[in-house]
Amino acid sequence: MSKSYEFIDHYHDVIVVGAGGAGLRATLGMAEQGLKTACITKVFPTRSHTVAAQGGIAASLQNMTPDSWQWHMYDTVKGSDWLGDNDAMEYMVREAPDAVYELEHYGVPFSRNEEGKIYQRPFGGHMQNYGEGPPVQRTCAVADRTGHAILHALYGQSLRHNAKFFIEYFALDLLMDDDGRCTGVIAWNLDDGTIHRFNAKMVVLATGGYGRTYFSATSAHTCTGDGNGMVARAGLPLQDMEFVQFHPTGVYGAGVLITEGARGEGGYLTNSEGERFMERYAPSAKDLASRDVVSRCMTLEIREGRGVGPKKDHIYLNLNHLDPEVLAERLPGISESAKIFAGVDLTRDPIPVIPTAHYNMGGIPTNYWGEVLNPTVKDPNRKVEGLMAVGECASASVHGANRLGSNSLIDLVVFGRAAAIRAGKIIDRDSAIPLSDEKRSEAVIARFDKLRHANGSITTATLRGRMQHTMQEDAAVFREQASLESGCRRMDENWAAMGDLKVSDRSMVWNSDLVETLELENLMACAITTVYGAEARKESRGAHAREDYTGGKFSGRDDKNWRKHTLARVNEKGKVKLSYTPVRTKLLSDGIDEKKIAPKARVY
Ligand code: FUM
Repeated sequence: MSKSYEFIDHYHDVIVVGAGGAGLRATLGMAEQGLKTACITKVFPTRSHTVAAQGGIAASLQNMTPDSWQWHMYDTVKGSDWLGDNDAMEYMVREAPDAVYELEHYGVPFSRNEEGKIYQRPFGGHMQNYGEGPPVQRTCAVADRTGHAILHALYGQSLRHNAKFFIEYFALDLLMDDDGRCTGVIAWNLDDGTIHRFNAKMVVLATGGYGRTYFSATSAHTCTGDGNGMVARAGLPLQDMEFVQFHPTGVYGAGVLITEGARGEGGYLTNSEGERFMERYAPSAKDLASRDVVSRCMTLEIREGRGVGPKKDHIYLNLNHLDPEVLAERLPGISESAKIFAGVDLTRDPIPVIPTAHYNMGGIPTNYWGEVLNPTVKDPNRKVEGLMAVGECASASVHGANRLGSNSLIDLVVFGRAAAIRAGKIIDRDSAIPLSDEKRSEAVIARFDKLRHANGSITTATLRGRMQHTMQEDAAVFREQASLESGCRRMDENWAAMGDLKVSDRSMVWNSDLVETLELENLMACAITTVYGAEARKESRGAHAREDYTGGKFSGRDDKNWRKHTLARVNEKGKVKLSYTPVRTKLLSDGIDEKKIAPKARVY
């Protein structure tokens, strides 16, 4: 043990890292089975980024319109642009209704329809009758504060089952043994500066996305890919990192989310000519086309000179035609956000919006039980013992190249629950908790200490800004070879500059300078794998829209060569190594006709 640090050791069956929707659902599921469970989280649980999820959670309850899990499956497969894994997608959509009823029983106060059933609204890309019918009302909502309500219910339920919480602890690194098995995690207690070693039979990563690799993002400043960074440093791969979703309606200038539920309730987009331009691009789904499609159309309108505002660089979202009572009842949160962040009274004026980085489809590769995979050519299903990942940090993969709105909250609870079910089966309750290797523990602390005493010439904020601008300029809504090559080169330089960082605060208690530096290392691993994966992928698919690949019957999508997952490994020098693994096309059951979900052109 390094002289100036002491470990405080803890022993649990399960350690969950992260207390958003997925982390809390996993924690609750583990604890209610009697597994000795602790959850460590860098923010108070109900401040996790799930709190910002507005519009709702998708499940085919059929409370408002006809629906079925098969239609939900079709929409999810099509939304993913045929990069999602069929087994995971089938599992999610089939489990979705039960998962929502379970939330209701846990105390989530869902909005109600006239019959008193859970209220469901339309959302982008969710349609009736295998995409042939009108929009389906599938997104279950608690007004426009759905994530907030879910977090509170799950936190309360976890406490009820005696899960232990280590709050405002920053996870530094995974503890891996010589056989490649995860045996725990080391974390820093921000409040008193102590260092904790959590030894466990199972570690579950639920650390959320890495939206803050971009300059403008709807994600909280805490969305820094911490689990992905830890996995990368453990020598494990990250999957499909190049697929980054831009939400069509971030508030111009502030990046704050205006829910897709706004368009679900009847809102629409207009350009400088007052034209409802989505009717031109997506005649059937219009403003409720899939997010990647709407974001691209908005960007094209701006590029072609039809943006609004003095710089003609954004678009209007109109809601002022809606009944003020509907706005007050269904969209109270965005009514407030529009006022605070855009100075707009949305009962009278349109909201200025722009596509804004919102969600990461890629992440830590897992199977549909949340078990982390380290695939090889011979064994694409090879597992990493003792390690699970759920939620946005994971790639199961249910979202493939593009996620449908409201499929994120359902992903969190379905797979948080699945991980708990699986852990309950595979954890041997009678076996001893593995003890962590001293040498590995020392290495984790050495990295921490090096950053704490970093004395170079670039501040963390400066370097983070460079990284965010690189990503925003070179790997955003539209991409092409030249911008992606520039992105790779600039990210190489940014990575190298990590060696010249300057941390000014050396203290151990609430040292936010050091926290942000640790977060920056995690973001760097995410950013560099994103841009390298994007440069290598010579096609357009979902959110990865390359202007140099637009031809053919699938508008640039090349299923023959590229219907496969990217695996990216990055070493300590920032060298990225890419390999590929097949999309899982096998279904779990014969409940859906395979022909219905076979690849075809993706039009809305
Ligand atoms: O628009 C929204 O309310 C966001 C939902 C989501 O990303 O699923």
